[in-house]
Amino acid sequence: MSRIAYVNGRYVPQRDAAVNVEDRGYQFGDGVYEVIHVHDGRFIDTDLHLARLARSLRELAIARPMEDAALLAVLREVVRRNRIREGIVYMQVSRGVARRDHAFPRDAAPALVITARHGAAFPRDIDAWTGTAVTVPDIRWGRVDIKTVNLLPNCLAKQKAREAGAYEAILIDRDGNVTEGSSTTVWAVDAEGVLRTRHLDHHILPGCTRAAVIALMEAAGIRFEERGLTEAELRAAREIFLTSATSYVKPMVRLDGAAVGDGTPGPVARRLFELFSRHADGAAHNVSRLASFSGIG
Ligand code: PDD
Repeated sequence: MSRIAYVNGRYVPQRDAAVNVEDRGYQFGDGVYEVIHVHDGRFIDTDLHLARLARSLRELAIARPMEDAALLAVLREVVRRNRIREGIVYMQVSRGVARRDHAFPRDAAPALVITARHGAAFPRDIDAWTGTAVTVPDIRWGRVDIKTVNLLPNCLAKQKAREAGAYEAILIDRDGNVTEGSSTTVWAVDAEGVLRTRHLDHHILPGCTRAAVIALMEAAGIRFEERGLTEAELRAAREIFLTSATSYVKPMVRLDGAAVGDGTPGPVARRLFELFSRHADGAAHNVSRLASFSGIG
């Protein structure tokens, strides 16, 4: 079965799907995106992803291509047409097509593209869901809280990880602080046993999975601090794990070749993996609502 994409109002075979060469997303990276996980045919944390998309568009003064209810209907239709039970949907909104000029065009309509693809089944065994990480300098711009398609530094970092045989590149800023992964939020249990993830500001993306995990922890009475780590603190951590729409809760068992803790997933990652699995299975529907107060939207 050939894949179907949605491109500006039409459902087309993906091999024929194309955008205009003067689309500003293509020429300037002038666009934003979201990746939503599909599990058992349902979207995970849709409210959060739609809220973050609206925020990204607002921050860049790009018009919304359609209201959320209509967008959700298109997302569902793309998933249905591609018969996805487990996988992801990708949606991208650019400022639209205009004669090349750095300044915003006056009359461009935003361009919307949505694709979907099958993925592996949701992981059930955390011990088979571990990975390794390397550290690399964070060379990104000053507004990475906006989920733009300007991902070249992230691609360079991920490539470094790939070449080192690692799953993720953890970014370290100029002051020696951990920001986030190239496409993930970073969490650590520090040497004192405190679970920490960086506070939100312009230097990390407010992760939807981060927000959902925070809501789940609050509901379960698990303590954590929104306080960044230094590189040295990361190296001394008992546990390191990542969250994202495609990594869920993923333990990192080695950092730059050295074992993290005893080199196996720690108790905190295990607990959160279990809570998030239940959330993904639909046991905690109201979490998205709760999490909408955790810095998104
Ligand atoms: N990446 N930080 C960065 C830089 C990201 O690109 C992502 C998501 C995250 C985690 O956000 P969320 O929990 O909402 O997925 C953090 C997606 C999956 C991607 O680019 O493919």
